Formats: sequence, structure tokens, C-alpha cells
Amino acid sequence: MADRPIGIFDSGIGGLTVAHAILDRLPAERILYFGDTAHLPYGDKSAATIRRYAERIAEFLVERDCKAIVIACNSASSAAYTHLQRRYGHELPIFNVIDPVVQAVAARRELHRIGVIGTKATVRAAAYPRKLKKLRPDLTVHSLATPLLAPMIEEGFFHNNISRAVLGAYLDRKALQEIQGLIMACTHYPLIRDDIQDHYGPGVELFDTPGLVADAVAAELGERNLLLDHRAKQQHTFCVSDYTDAFARTTRIFWGKTVRLEPVDLESEA
Ligand code: DGL
Repeated sequence: MADRPIGIFDSGIGGLTVAHAILDRLPAERILYFGDTAHLPYGDKSAATIRRYAERIAEFLVERDCKAIVIACNSASSAAYTHLQRRYGHELPIFNVIDPVVQAVAARRELHRIGVIGTKATVRAAAYPRKLKKLRPDLTVHSLATPLLAPMIEEGFFHNNISRAVLGAYLDRKALQEIQGLIMACTHYPLIRDDIQDHYGPGVELFDTPGLVADAVAAELGERNLLLDHRAKQQHTFCVSDYTDAFARTTRIFWGKTVRLEPVDLESEA
């Protein structure tokens, strides 16, 4: 069982931020990454549609013998985690990207005003404020949907004047004034972490969302004796539901080296 890959999925490249953090902690492991590029962005879709996509991907990852599934997407974690947990949780561990962050932020007793930025789907589902307030009723949580950011990042459009202007238009909104910490509730956003931090300056803490998720994955796989005790012999696999050169290029930028993208048509495989 330990020999099998860790399945990780997102709508596109955002989940690579989580994959990176996992391999940083568990360098011996092998991953099978699925970017659902045919259906990107998830953030504008209904919960029912995202759940349907997520279910099909989870089925694929189980068929491909993954030992765990990491839903490396906040929109899909909000819409589909409970469902996937019920359906596959008895077979293999299922991780969402929300709970580890909520626990870490709630434990920071000195913080009282938290901002959350994410897709429309994530903000509409309101899992962050609900879960945070359950653990810390004294917390003030301001959420803001920032739907232009993920497509902008997918396009490789960041660290420039226009992307900073878009970011500024969101971060300057009233809801996000006077916060002490910000949750990047979309796995794409750590890719523009520096721009966000520059905008706020040192007065606002940006939580290391991929790192917190990776710590939770490493701890639970360790507890369940699911970690490799030798380096995996096989390579990582990166699958996409729609191959485009643009996606291949952005993947290369964010993964740091060229990866072979395997196109997988889940609809015809169904
Ligand atoms: N990276 C995803 C998330 O964490 C979704 C971005 C999108 O497809 O809208 O929500």
C-alpha cells in the first residue's frame, strides 16, 4: 500500500502549490496529479457541478491505485469533501485543504480579525467562517470573493502592473481593512503570495496554506503507516483533462521543470 502514489487534484495548476509542499516534507513519495483543465475555473460553478467533477476524478485516482486523495482545491473541498469522504473514506484517507488551515488559524489566540479570499464557490459555501467561528466564537472573519485571480494566474499573468492593480482593487475593499491575518483560500493564490504581502506590508500575516495542508497529510499518512521508507522508483505523473500548450507552459513555470502531461478524457473513460 505504501508504494502507491498520493493522488492530488485541482481544477488546474493551483494544486501544484500543495503538491510542492507535500513533496517538500515527503521527498520519497510519488504523486499522481490531476488538473481538471477542461472544467477550469471551478470557482464560478455550482456546488453540484463541482461535486460531479470531483467525484469522477476521485474515482479515477482510486482506479489508478492511489493510497490517499488530496483535494488540493478550496472550491472542491467546500463542495465535495463530505461527499468524497462518505464515498471513499473507508478505502483511503481523503484530505481537504480547509480543515488544517482552520485549526492552525483558530489556535492563534492573539489574532482576532481574519480575512479570507477565495473563489465565488468557496466564499458562497462559507466553510471557513463557519468552522473558524465554531472553534473561536470571538473571531471576526471577513470573506471576499476574488474571482479574477485564479484565471489570471492560470494565464501566467502575475507580478506585473495589471495583475497588481486587480489585486489592489480587491484587497483595498472595506471588508479586508484592519485584518491581522489573511487566508489565501484558493490554492492558486500562494503563487502571488509576494504581491499580496507587498500590498499589505508586514502588518498582515499571510498563512502558509499549502504548508499547513502538507503537514496534516504527512502526519496522517505517517500515523496510518502509509509512508514509503525508500524513495519511489517510479516518476510522478501529471494528468490533465484538456491539454493545451499554455497549460504545459505554466506547469513548467510553477513546477520548475518540464513535466510530461498525460491527457485523460474522464468522460469517455466513464
Ligand atoms: N484552485 C482552486 C481553489 O482552490 C480553484 C480555482 C478555480 O478553478 O476557480 O479554489
